[in-house]
Amino acid sequence: MIQTDLREFLAAVDAAGQLKTVSGAHWDKEIGAVTEVLYRQKVDQAPALLFDEIPGYPQGMRCLYGMLGSPARLALALGMEAKVGDDRMSMLNSVRRTMATHKPISPRLVTDAAVLENVIEGDDVDMFKFPVPIHHEADGGRYIGTACGVITRDPDSGRVNMGTYRVQAIGPNKATSYISNGKQGLIQRDKYLSAGKPCPMIIVIGIDPASFLAARYTLPDSVCELDWAGALTGKPLDVLHGELTGLPFPAGSEIVMEGEVSPNETTEEGPFGEWHGYYAGGTRPEPVITIKRIYHRSDPILTCAASQKPPHSHLFERCFLRSAALWDSLDNASVPDVRGIWVHQGGSGRTFVVVSIKQRYFGHATQAGLIASQINPTGYCGRYVVVVDDDIDPSDIQDVLWAMGTRSDPKTDITLLDKCWSSRIDPMVQSQDALYNTRCVINACIPYERINDFPPVAQTSRELAKEVRKKFPSVFE
Ligand SMILES: Cc1cc2nc3c(=O)[nH]c(=O)nc-3n(C[C@H](O)[C@H](O)[C@H](O)COP(=O)(O)O)c2cc1C
Repeated sequence: MIQTDLREFLAAVDAAGQLKTVSGAHWDKEIGAVTEVLYRQKVDQAPALLFDEIPGYPQGMRCLYGMLGSPARLALALGMEAKVGDDRMSMLNSVRRTMATHKPISPRLVTDAAVLENVIEGDDVDMFKFPVPIHHEADGGRYIGTACGVITRDPDSGRVNMGTYRVQAIGPNKATSYISNGKQGLIQRDKYLSAGKPCPMIIVIGIDPASFLAARYTLPDSVCELDWAGALTGKPLDVLHGELTGLPFPAGSEIVMEGEVSPNETTEEGPFGEWHGYYAGGTRPEPVITIKRIYHRSDPILTCAASQKPPHSHLFERCFLRSAALWDSLDNASVPDVRGIWVHQGGSGRTFVVVSIKQRYFGHATQAGLIASQINPTGYCGRYVVVVDDDIDPSDIQDVLWAMGTRSDPKTDITLLDKCWSSRIDPMVQSQDALYNTRCVINACIPYERINDFPPVAQTSRELAKEVRKKFPSVFE
């Protein structure tokens, strides 16, 4: 079952041997460092880490990292058996099959939920009542929102958006957030601010797995993330309405902050250890968010995500979700016979993308590569796209390098595209007035004109491999 309650999900994660509680680590850099060191050591296999007894805070106020950061945990969050996570391509296919049959469903409004156990408002609002971490050594402050959901409403269409955008606590009731150019949350927010009006906002700090998956999934503008969470679970997501903003928020949340973004007050935001592994965004002015009310469960859990140089605690699921979303986008763009996709972790979940196709016609590989380089979710801040044949596993970097080294001609099979969609946090962007970058599309497929007479691959056939495994089982133990 896909969980819309973080605690029920954590119980399942614990039962699967995928949860570790750590006591006594400090919110000031220590929690982030413990997480990073472990995830670097146990790539894709580290447990979720629940930090408790954080110095200066009562026992029970906890920080969770790596909620979905292993194939087994992501499988659990998606309602699959944990062991399914062993095979990434079948997991991708299975999720896409589910999503093809499920349609977005409007949320169900409820009036009571555990998140209403504690309501803090007015002068009592103090984000530092929670153990808000400094996630990386050179961060500019304490970031309360990392694995979070930021909810806004489009003032023109009324569409509600929920995106995961980082939120820095800059005072007891003051925060700020960095939202990249082109993101829906920014477009909605700036419609209010450019009209000189405050933008109502809700920030979900302890977020349930289904809502977190929705908040970070790149959806078409027309689809609300809360509806998409319903599609994921197959039933409406329970939501409450914030009394001050009228905005909906997931009822299974741990901590929810309600407030508004100022049209005329800014503060310095950053630096923050970014998804690509650098503090590249530096410090910049961003609008101030005033938090007017906080709702929270007793003994709340802050869901956290510290990105850094790969690998890190939310990179596996990032790569998986972007791979699934890119596959959908290519299908929707009528690129036929896509057989696999992998957005690689070494490419920080954006900069190295592999698309595998069953070639059907001249130009098919170029078409797939160029579209993948521009379309969501890889259109923003991408760098390299490699297109391979369907005998190559796109998630296996050895296979991909072999294809590049044997099926592509650097002189003719590399296409460069200028002035593509980038961001001020791209470490290769030099001018804040020109947020472009370049894309490289590598066609590492067998040239289509040679598809029937390319040299045969020197690899033991499946049949013979099966036979020898059966005959000499001890060799393969
Ligand atoms: C842990 C995590 C942190 C993220 N932080 C940011 C951020 O600070 N700013 C941003 O613009 N996008 C961030 N993203 C990416 C967006 O959440 C993602 O692109 C999402 O699809 C945006 O939603 P939208 O299409 O509704 O704008 C983050 C994603 C994750 C998973």
